[in-house]
Amino acid sequence: MTAASNFSVQALQWTGHSLKVLDQRQLPETIAYDDYQDAAGVTEAIASMQVRGAPAIGIAAAYGVVLSAMRHYPGGDWQTRVAQDIEQLAASRPTAVNLFWALDKMRALLAAQPADPIAALTQLAKQIHADDLAANLAMGERGADIIGEAKAVLTHCNAGALATGGYGTALGVIRSLHKRGRLQNVYADETRPWLQGARLTVWELAQDGIPATLIADSAAAWLMKSGKIDWIIVGADRITANGDVANKIGTYSLAVLAKQHGVKVMVAAPSSTFDFSLENGDSIEIEERNPKELLAECYLHDGSLVNAWNPVFDVTPAALISAIVTERGAVIDPGKHGVRSLQTC
Ligand code: MRU
Repeated sequence: MTAASNFSVQALQWTGHSLKVLDQRQLPETIAYDDYQDAAGVTEAIASMQVRGAPAIGIAAAYGVVLSAMRHYPGGDWQTRVAQDIEQLAASRPTAVNLFWALDKMRALLAAQPADPIAALTQLAKQIHADDLAANLAMGERGADIIGEAKAVLTHCNAGALATGGYGTALGVIRSLHKRGRLQNVYADETRPWLQGARLTVWELAQDGIPATLIADSAAAWLMKSGKIDWIIVGADRITANGDVANKIGTYSLAVLAKQHGVKVMVAAPSSTFDFSLENGDSIEIEERNPKELLAECYLHDGSLVNAWNPVFDVTPAALISAIVTERGAVIDPGKHGVRSLQTC
């Protein structure tokens, strides 16, 4: 972490023989880490949202592969067992492409048959982690350059240090703007039902001394109508070739509202979030979590007539987005241009 941020709590810590995972479900009341020594534990940590946020789950999965190799190498069938662990890690959550991107990189390294797979895999996982932090710092500056100055912005979910290798994507842009003295206030949506905004984002911002105001998700339209914000800044879980963006449920509603009210929408994401194999967002798998996460306690009994639908991501069409910012560059007006210009290979 650089002097750009005082935020020091890390979502993931590699110890050399285990992965310490901050239990984000307990924040902000309790800062507690669990220590995982196998891929099954990391898989469960991702599936249960102990660690969450697209880049962070990719990094966690990469370390999960290292732990798998440490456990199984040099047993006779170690390659098969590591491949099975990779399949389990890949099944932990479906929407954020960073997970599959990181696992593909680890798989490719294994296929190249390095002399010492553990050293090589460890080095790659650490590199994925370090590169994500560097990408965030770069896109923070780039996003701040594009915005220039804002009286206030609105962010949704948590796209901060907790969701990444550090510094954050959307919160990285916000941190950079604040550091420049070009941002007066940040509004954060609660982000139901997991409350990533209410529990994580406002806490992260407060640690850095960045003025933050929590709003109910349903207050966003009125906030825009009142002229209080210039930009909405969010992260992403998957961006397709035409610039469609999958992100936390509620992002699409914000973008529709933004159009109505003349507010601009910025998406900040590292290149590991791009899925150029998909032409548009129609075929992105949207995770649906257990309805119990939404339902009040009194409806959880057998035979209850009350049900719930709990999609946890949505897709915002490129045409509703003003700018997509990455460490490689930015596309203004992706609805007109798509994002293929950001593809390097
Ligand atoms: O369900 P979550 O908390 O993993 O969802 C996280 C988000 O939607 C974030 O906005 C996204 O992953 C970007 S994080 C830099």
